[in-house]
Amino acid sequence: MQHNVLILDFGSQYTQLIARRVRELNIFCEIFPYNHFPDDLSSYKAVILSGSPFSTRADDAPHPDLSQIRGKMPLLAVCYGAQYLAHFNGGEVGASSTREYGRANLSFIKEDEAFFADVPMNSQVWMSHSDTIKKLPTGAVKLASTHDVENAAYKIEGETTYAIQFHPEVYHSTDGKKMLENFLVKIAQVPQNFTPNAFVDEIVAELKEKIGNDKVVLGLSGGVDSTVAAVLLNKAIGDNLYCIFVNNGLLRKKEFENVLHQYKDMGLNVKGVDAGDRFLGQLEGISDPETKRKTIGRVFIEVFDDEAHLLTDVKWLAQGTIYPDVIESVSVKGPSATIKSHHNVGGLPDFMKLKIVEPLRMLFKDEVRRVGKTLGIDPELLGRHPFPGPGLSIRILGDITKEKVRILQEVDAVFIDGLKSWGLYDKVWQAGAILLPVDSVGVMGDERTYEKVVALRAVESTDGMTADWVHLPYEFLMKVSNDIINKVKGVNRVVYDISSKPPATIEWE
Ligand code: XMP
Repeated sequence: MQHNVLILDFGSQYTQLIARRVRELNIFCEIFPYNHFPDDLSSYKAVILSGSPFSTRADDAPHPDLSQIRGKMPLLAVCYGAQYLAHFNGGEVGASSTREYGRANLSFIKEDEAFFADVPMNSQVWMSHSDTIKKLPTGAVKLASTHDVENAAYKIEGETTYAIQFHPEVYHSTDGKKMLENFLVKIAQVPQNFTPNAFVDEIVAELKEKIGNDKVVLGLSGGVDSTVAAVLLNKAIGDNLYCIFVNNGLLRKKEFENVLHQYKDMGLNVKGVDAGDRFLGQLEGISDPETKRKTIGRVFIEVFDDEAHLLTDVKWLAQGTIYPDVIESVSVKGPSATIKSHHNVGGLPDFMKLKIVEPLRMLFKDEVRRVGKTLGIDPELLGRHPFPGPGLSIRILGDITKEKVRILQEVDAVFIDGLKSWGLYDKVWQAGAILLPVDSVGVMGDERTYEKVVALRAVESTDGMTADWVHLPYEFLMKVSNDIINKVKGVNRVVYDISSKPPATIEWE
């Protein structure tokens, strides 16, 4: 992958957003922690410094050596970055006396300044800082102010160094993307050539070169990431890619059969392994959610290892890792424990000792979807709601039996099919049904019944970190509730979950 823009992360909650905005301009960029970036920067065309929760005046704040960057290549310093440049170069940073959080408007913009080309006066920007730049650094020219922030933007004369106190990456900064475009395209002249098509061409060539005639094994889950990874690898190495799709007995109704067919239609060399009984057998009597998750993880590894052993001469394990996972593992907070466990290969199953290939490790989720579309993958598959690895096991509260799985699969199918036929599926980020461990009383004819209660859950979210319950139409809920109680034997009551995350979570276990 060509190196275009380097983003130095000082630990801001918005750093990933900077990368996403840059990628939306079809410009490739990478995030590095401020204390861990490449020595040789000659292949980069521009650098962006992120914000940070620190005050630049604090002793333990990030104070990296920027001598290889500043004045040597185009540099944009955002928020903390802007303060950092000022603080150590003859300027002054101090605690601000007025509120500098939230929306503000640019009340002064320097004329004929390329950075602000096509940005109107009073453009709204998003501020989020407690320190403020009281005096600009040596050689700086003020470019913009707001009512409360005099030095909202500046540049250093004779350099392509720009600094802004606000956050262009946040949507509330109405012209933020335009400013990033002005800086990257007009000023730094970075090429806008990172498109899904270009990515596919480049990664396929790279995979061919890297893997050659070796065999690769990959576990398909039915989700977007593993599917797109498989199609890319298939394009690069054809049938030398061996896909394994495991039925853990906890998938949605008919999902194993349907998705397996779809994979075969896509030309993938895939083996479906129906291990439902093996999983359910091991889960018998287990009620604790974390023990369920661990058991499923363990059995999955056993099943996958058995299957991988049937293949000979496999050299690589492919994974659908995406960029947020990669960034997380090298964050400024220090390497996570997972990195250490990779070095401890002694006790791992054989397939885990294979070399790892991760075709999507530089992509965000929405980019994976766009690449999938370019590859001609069925839009329905690409638009599927997220589904947890442990499947229905964490939506059956308490212990798991075959009968409970059957009931929940039926209920879930009525709900999900209903969302689809009412045109609501794509408006919801994730939906599912939960089987509660209580019997409720009901009447059928003249008889009292004691049957199961199910909860329906539908949430809106962007990344699953926070979520709101969806205001599904009452008519829809009424119809789905009727259908479930009439069609699914064993259920006599349906409730709708109206809790948001936080404080509730999306799953019930
Ligand atoms: P929570 O319940 O934590 O869920 O609000 C957030 C997102 O994570 C999914 N989830 C899981 N996914 N294994 C997974 O692969 C798990 O154990 C697991 N638990 C929760 C959940 O479906 C939602 O998308």
